[in-house]
Amino acid sequence: MNKSNDVSLSSLRTRHPKVYIKTFGCQMNKADSRRLEEIFISKGYKTADMVWDADVVVFNTCSVREHAENKALSNIGSLKVLKDKNPAVRICVVGCMAQRMQKEIRTSLPHVDFVVGPSKMFELPILIERNEKGIHPDTEETVKVFYEYLPDIIDNKREYSGYVPIMKGCGNFCSYCIVPYVRGREQYRPKEEVLAECAVLAKTGINEIMLLGQTVNSHPDFKSILRETAAIKGIKRVRFVTSYPGKVDRELVDIVRDTPALCNYFHIPVQSGSDDVLKRMNRDYTTDYFMDIAMYIRKQIPAAAISSDFIAGFPGETDRDFEKTLDIVKKVRFDQSFTFKYSPRPMTRAYEWEDDVPLEVKKERLARLNEACSDAAQERNALLVGKKVEILSEGGNSGRTGEYKIVFWEGDPAEPGAEVEVDIKKALPHSLTGRRA
Ligand code: 5AD
Ligand code: SF4
Repeated sequence: MNKSNDVSLSSLRTRHPKVYIKTFGCQMNKADSRRLEEIFISKGYKTADMVWDADVVVFNTCSVREHAENKALSNIGSLKVLKDKNPAVRICVVGCMAQRMQKEIRTSLPHVDFVVGPSKMFELPILIERNEKGIHPDTEETVKVFYEYLPDIIDNKREYSGYVPIMKGCGNFCSYCIVPYVRGREQYRPKEEVLAECAVLAKTGINEIMLLGQTVNSHPDFKSILRETAAIKGIKRVRFVTSYPGKVDRELVDIVRDTPALCNYFHIPVQSGSDDVLKRMNRDYTTDYFMDIAMYIRKQIPAAAISSDFIAGFPGETDRDFEKTLDIVKKVRFDQSFTFKYSPRPMTRAYEWEDDVPLEVKKERLARLNEACSDAAQERNALLVGKKVEILSEGGNSGRTGEYKIVFWEGDPAEPGAEVEVDIKKALPHSLTGRRA
């Protein structure tokens, strides 16, 4: 691939066209969007702050719940106005929904020019370029960018936090989950490549690394990647999301406890507190296993944050099953929780089953779950009141603790990536406030 500034998009407005990327969904999507932006920049593009200002508009979409798809679809629908005003604008839908709904998008949203799934997303700038030159997209060999080591591209940008995917896809086939169908089975990045990328990020001034994967801890070299990333000079914080509960073991907790640069933060989605439901979800751990590991974390690293995801109203979930989910929240006292109503997803196993929990019941369970999660989070956050904590600034007057808690402070603002000490005054369920020390 020629990485020079070789954009020659005849019908686009300038020699340096502008790209605008909007991201829906998970951190993996954010990481993909960032990387896609770097690739556009390496091809001579500039970024647009507003959609109206862009020559190329990209929506990176999510399919994990129907609600996420509907939101993206309505946003994409509203881009028709933009296309009517400026037919030269290129509208692109990429990511999971582009994969799942390729045909529907092409037929029902004709103002969309490109529909590209996750596996080919990084080829988008090339596809656009070929299209502008009138070359059929399939005539030349396409370029695989995901596994390519991209130091020159990464060098273009200075940020304080770097997302580093260590795997893509997932082969777990939880019965409710569409990910294996839209992102494919899991593929692991070689450890050397991951470490090389982290080292380049560190050199460009990035001091926080977020290692990403749908089941990040199933990477065969996960523990050594953690240790070695944490040892890179200049890297102050390393996080990893998302951990599959069945593969979080005591040794992993010990490594986090004993390695200062590894953040005391575990995102372990339990999904349900009922073993019957977990079994039908095809999650291969029990609530006993989960409780054991959560209690081990609490004992070994009392300050560590444990966060989780929950699904309310999975097919066949009884009141008793749901009470068990509330029990687990009450026992673990999660620092942060992401709660969802079950949403049937085409292609998945559970899609074949009756979605038998009525919407009203789902809503009521979700409300009760949210209340319990909020109480727990508030209680955990309250433990920090009166303490001085170290924050990595996100720019301005906010940043995050090592436990990934958001803190807003009074006093002088700080540049992104700067370390700031804050005296915590007040705890809320989703954030903390204080004064810069
Ligand atoms: N319905 C509701 N929530 C879902 N999630 C994944 N699939 C579904 C679904 N079909 C939730 C899970 C997962 C998080 C990313 O999204 O809790 O951990
Ligand atoms: Fe989906 Fe389960 Fe894989 Fe997570 S582990 S991405 S929930 S299939």
